[in-house]
Amino acid sequence: AAPKTWSGRFSEPVAELVKRYTASVFFDKRLAEYDIEGSLAHAQMLNKVGVLSGDDLNAITEGMARILASIQAGTFEWSLDLEDVHMNIEKRLTDLIGDAGKRLHTGRSRNDQVATDIRLWLRHEIDALVHLAEDLQHSLLDLAEKHAETVMPGFTHLQVAQPITFGHHLMAYVEMLARDVERLRDTRKRVNRLPLGAAALAGTSYPIDREFVARQLGFDAVCENSLDAVSDRDFAIEFTAASALVMTHLSRLSEELVLWMNPRFGFIDMADRYCTGSSIMPQKKNPDVPELVRGKTGRVNGHLMALLTLMKAQPLAYNKDNQEDKEPLFDTVDTLSATLRIVADMMRGVVVKPDAMRRAVKQGYATATDLADYLVKKGLPFRDAHEAVALAVRYAGEQRKDLAELSLVELGTFSPLIAGDVFDVLTPEGSLASRDHIGGTAPRQVRAAIARARARLSA
Ligand code: ARG
Repeated sequence: AAPKTWSGRFSEPVAELVKRYTASVFFDKRLAEYDIEGSLAHAQMLNKVGVLSGDDLNAITEGMARILASIQAGTFEWSLDLEDVHMNIEKRLTDLIGDAGKRLHTGRSRNDQVATDIRLWLRHEIDALVHLAEDLQHSLLDLAEKHAETVMPGFTHLQVAQPITFGHHLMAYVEMLARDVERLRDTRKRVNRLPLGAAALAGTSYPIDREFVARQLGFDAVCENSLDAVSDRDFAIEFTAASALVMTHLSRLSEELVLWMNPRFGFIDMADRYCTGSSIMPQKKNPDVPELVRGKTGRVNGHLMALLTLMKAQPLAYNKDNQEDKEPLFDTVDTLSATLRIVADMMRGVVVKPDAMRRAVKQGYATATDLADYLVKKGLPFRDAHEAVALAVRYAGEQRKDLAELSLVELGTFSPLIAGDVFDVLTPEGSLASRDHIGGTAPRQVRAAIARARARLSA
């Protein structure tokens, strides 16, 4: 094997096991495109400040173009001996153009180079993820719009609580995703700063122009402290935390899909293309996809823990520990991206069963609160109204009837204030219509929420 770029001071070659243990090229080659982008901006800056000749810059530019083309074509030969993506590319550049390739690394270290690469890559991925999260919101909005009036039971403690609309329920997830997008966009601001120029840890003696490099690469600003620039990965932790929350929201939605698809709920069916059968039980149709979304949430939570733990005891500045930031980050992006895509499509294949939803509302005394509020509006203190309705529910239960199925005479035994107009509030529709304020479940409010969300998405 060829001697290492840095092997001048060593008297024996690195052990084979160590070579494998310390190499990162198998995974960090994913950063290649961004590594080249960063190198080109660095070379342009060196030329601008008079450290690199125009001929060298041209040779580097042409060499990098060839390297990028061969990476994209899949013909680039990655070498374990060359450790990581940075040295693989630099070595190839030098093979292609000679000494100019060796001058590229002037005033730079792999420490600020890799930090720059990850930030360029992550910025790009965040933009793609925001787009996917918005597409999922569109998919939920389309379904919510169709069901702005579809009655279903809302639950607390997984017990029937009050009538809501299915559209209102779905809009809760749109809100969660909107905050997720906000978090990702906010993270992006802190990702989008330039470490390059920090060199190994202390900066460099060359007359570099960091602001120029920042502008070339589309960064908002430079990292202001060289030690911090090369050593912190808080932006990666922050991104993974935001991702863990997205996954948590999708996991809750998935859990509900699994419950709703169970015949004891029977609220929905899922498109066959999103379910699988059993190799032994011929009758089975299993909701594997939402179950896996739930499961993969654990994986992303794990990556968050991995990165926090990676960082917690590192002394300043760069330590090789940081090479371990990449696989958790890559897997977080891959998992999140695949999950957002699949959930968006899965929601488009949900078959809603309004009859089953309505039956569940009827069976759960979901309008009991409405009856209590009715009595309050007629002058009874709320606690007394609560008591009167509790007795009515108990009686109705014994009769195996819904509150709305009791006669006026029967209802009258629980309060003399109950009159013929009571039946308006005992229906699910009456209950829904009465919750008519911003954030409420009245169909009119659900439609307004959908319109606001659509406006926000197209802004
Ligand atoms: N592969 C390394 C990483 O991912 C690049 C930086 C290595 N720097 C060093 N001094 N060993 O962090």
